[in-house]
Amino acid sequence: MKIINVAIDGPAGAGKSTISRKAAAELGYIYIDTGALYRTVGLNALRKGADLQSDEAIIATITDDLKVELKFIDGEQRMFLSDEDVSDKIRTPEASMAASRVSAVPKVREFLFDLQKKLARENNCVMDGRDIGTVVLPDADVKIFLTASPEARAERRFKELTEKGMDVKYEDVLADMIKRDYDDSHRAIAPLKQADDAILCDTSNIGLEESIALIIKTIKDNI
Ligand code: DC
Repeated sequence: MKIINVAIDGPAGAGKSTISRKAAAELGYIYIDTGALYRTVGLNALRKGADLQSDEAIIATITDDLKVELKFIDGEQRMFLSDEDVSDKIRTPEASMAASRVSAVPKVREFLFDLQKKLARENNCVMDGRDIGTVVLPDADVKIFLTASPEARAERRFKELTEKGMDVKYEDVLADMIKRDYDDSHRAIAPLKQADDAILCDTSNIGLEESIALIIKTIKDNI
């Protein structure tokens, strides 16, 4: 049977993970959050005390014994760093910034590339990230570029973090978002950009339920 791969790319806070998870459940596919892989490598670099300004220092944390694993537990993706479940620890603002930083290092992208390819080869999946339609799965059956204005995305991320009890300011979340967008789209390797054959979906002015319905319809109409 043919394996179906759906690629969903876009900037931070566009609702990619929530929407992709729901779409995958509706289609009976697995959902793969590739940002979590970069976050896990970023957390490892933070824990090792690496100087995140230095590519060399980041590369030095990609050791032969570095074990980054993605497991599905009760249908949910969990991230493991050397057998420790770090799924929650990779969600802090520090881990977000570290993820963005390490993701600009070619050796890190190489390290995670095969794992992503293998998962897509073996499973019907909805995979979300920044370079899925352009680099990881250029032959994906459906490609979507999901975006929203920086303010709409910062608003959503702020709500999510405060609901988790984190003490953050909206202005800081917006500034982080704008910086991360800039860094992700201007890095030399695999920058965030819409694939030529990706369908653009902008959710600035629609709510979550409507966005989910739009993406599911877009996928179904195109597979
Ligand atoms: O989607 P996210 O916010 O969890 O991603 C965390 C960081 O990882 C983000 O700043 C960019 C990077 N990333 C990437 O470079 N390529 C991907 N496929 C996914 C994420």
